[in-house]
Amino acid sequence: MPENDAIRQTPGNTEWFTHDRFGMFIHWGLYAMPARHEWVKTNEQISEEKYDKYFKYFNPDLYDPREWARYAKEAGMKYVVLTARHHEGFCLFDTKYTDYSVMHTPYGKDLVREFVDAFRAEGLHIGFYYSLLDWHHPDYTLDRFHPRRDTEDIDEFNELRSMKKYAEYMRNQVTELLTNYGKIDIMWFDFSFRDEYRGMKGKGRDDWEAEKLIAIVRKLQPDIIIDNRADIEQDLWTPEQVQPTEWVRDDNGRRVVWEACQTFSGSWGYHRDEQTWKSPELLIRMLINTVSCGGNLLLNVGPTSRGYFDSRAVNTLTEIGRWMKYHARSIYGCTQADYEAPGDVRYTQNGRRLYAHIFAYPFRTLVLKGFADRIDYAQFLHDGSEILYDIDEKENAVTFHLPVIKPDVTVPVIEIMLK
Ligand code: GLC
Repeated sequence: MPENDAIRQTPGNTEWFTHDRFGMFIHWGLYAMPARHEWVKTNEQISEEKYDKYFKYFNPDLYDPREWARYAKEAGMKYVVLTARHHEGFCLFDTKYTDYSVMHTPYGKDLVREFVDAFRAEGLHIGFYYSLLDWHHPDYTLDRFHPRRDTEDIDEFNELRSMKKYAEYMRNQVTELLTNYGKIDIMWFDFSFRDEYRGMKGKGRDDWEAEKLIAIVRKLQPDIIIDNRADIEQDLWTPEQVQPTEWVRDDNGRRVVWEACQTFSGSWGYHRDEQTWKSPELLIRMLINTVSCGGNLLLNVGPTSRGYFDSRAVNTLTEIGRWMKYHARSIYGCTQADYEAPGDVRYTQNGRRLYAHIFAYPFRTLVLKGFADRIDYAQFLHDGSEILYDIDEKENAVTFHLPVIKPDVTVPVIEIMLK
């Protein structure tokens, strides 16, 4: 790495974050009931009256966040980000500023409180996702994503609405979230957009009054990590549903702290009929790929409306946990390596430990170049069994001698001790 390639410094404390590498995203709200994507209200342009049915009957009777926290922990996740409020505007927390919250559903208890207590008890860092869009609030004006975008007269709809009041509403709620639940580690705002539609403008930092909003966050929780989506660069860059193949950089080419967010299937909210579930192996590789490029992975679960993780999610988390149990050392505290790996291998590195993740298991030998002059010892990470090797000094190459049968782990890793 060239010396001037330093990682951009920002106000939040990202030290624990870049160590921990792996987190759980949770998208939960009324949309778990239609179970057809968290954007269902706008995708299907559902009327308030019809959408109110979900509010009227929302009652996650099987909600047990301690169980969620155990799943997250066993999968090797070290932090969690929960949608305290998504675009539909429904609040999972107790708030003074609207009746459109869980407190006024049949469930009637603060879901966020129980959530925070449970995850904290398992030692995970806590983050809140908070939507900047709101498809329910009476002051929120029409835009291209709004469910009423095609059916309302723009001027009439907006006439009594005030984004100024809405921005104040957000400040009030964010104040609640950051004062009522103890130490919060991440604030994940979502999202800003410039696109126009039928003469309706996009929304960005001016509409959210993002500077004021962020100032409040920093004041209430000085160490907190804030994402970039309020349209002002903060601590965290968040590529969504794409896997960067190199370290993410800002517009000036500086390396930044980044976190890829990914779904198990194509939806963030619980989607009963969606079938494009990624295999556990693919997800494990995505985690490795992410860390090999110096990033974090935030992997999403969409709980059901009764409050539990469905079997597809549980099975996937369990598989990931099975791998993480033996390989966490090549993830936590690791980052992009000093060496370049061949196509079928991904490196991560933690100081003098280099980890070679073998994506395509070869016959008997694996040749890796660049560190032959530094190698001291090598072993499989999963069982700590020695791997013998030969050195070719001229080529600066190491030939590892592998067993013919691939070890019974999803992605085998060679742990290489460097001098
Ligand atoms: C988005 C979507 C969304 C999801 C999020 C996660 O921009 O609007 O539904 O919450 O990204 O990154």
